[in-house]
Amino acid sequence: MKFLITAGPTREYIDPVRYISNPSTGKMGYALAQTARALGHQVVLVSGPTCLAAPAGVKLIPIVSADDMQKAVFENMLAADVIIMAAAVSDFKPASSARLKIKKDKASLQLSLKRNPDILAALGNRKHSYYLVGFAAETDHVILHAQKKLLNKNLDMIVANRVDREDTGFGSDFNEAVLLFKEGKNKRIAKTSKTKLAQVVIREIISHITAA
Ligand code: CTP
Repeated sequence: MKFLITAGPTREYIDPVRYISNPSTGKMGYALAQTARALGHQVVLVSGPTCLAAPAGVKLIPIVSADDMQKAVFENMLAADVIIMAAAVSDFKPASSARLKIKKDKASLQLSLKRNPDILAALGNRKHSYYLVGFAAETDHVILHAQKKLLNKNLDMIVANRVDREDTGFGSDFNEAVLLFKEGKNKRIAKTSKTKLAQVVIREIISHITAA
C-alpha cells in the first residue's frame, strides 16, 4: 500500500531569524514511516525540520511551514491508501512576516497571529478512499478531546497521547497512547518505545483495512 505520513514540527517565521514552533522532534512520525517501509509499503514522508535521517527507501519531502505541509500533502493525497498526520502543525502563524530582521529598538513588541489551515480536517472533509489517521496531543481530558477530533475531522482512527509529561510524548523515545476507532472501539497502549507504538499503529491500520 501507499502511505503518506507527516512528521515533526512546523515553523512559522516572524522575521528571517525568528519563528514560532513547538518541541516536536519527529520521532513518532519517522518510526511510523520506518515501520511501514519495513513491511514493504511505499512511504512518502512530509517532514518539518528535525535532526533525523529519513529511513532508507522512504521518499522524504522536507517542508518548513504549515502552508508548505498542506501543499505537499494535497499534492500526494490522491495516490495514498493511508494518510497518517503525526506532525505537530502550528495552529497559528504571524499575521505578517517581516522581510528584514526586527530590531530591538522598542520596549515591547505586539505579535499578531492568524490561524493556519487545519490540514487533517481538510483531508477528512474531502475524504477519498484513503484510511485517515490523526494524532491528538493533549494535556487533559485526553479521551474526550480525542473523541471530538475523531468525529469532527472525519477520521478512521486517532492516536491520543499526553504531551505534558517529560517521560513520554514530545522529544521522548517513549509514548503511551489510546487508539480510538471510528467504529467506537478503544485500545490502550501502555508506556512503550515509539518504535513499538508505531508497530502497533501500523498493524491496527492494516488489520482494519483488510477487515473492511
Ligand atoms: N493538525 C493539522 N493541522 C493543524 C493542526 C493539527 O493537520 N493546523 C493535525 C495534527 O497533525 C494531528 C491532529 O490534527 O493529527 C490533532 O492535532 P492537535 O494539535 O492535537 O489538535 P488541534 O486540531 O490543533 O486542536 P487543539 O490545538 O485545539 O487541541
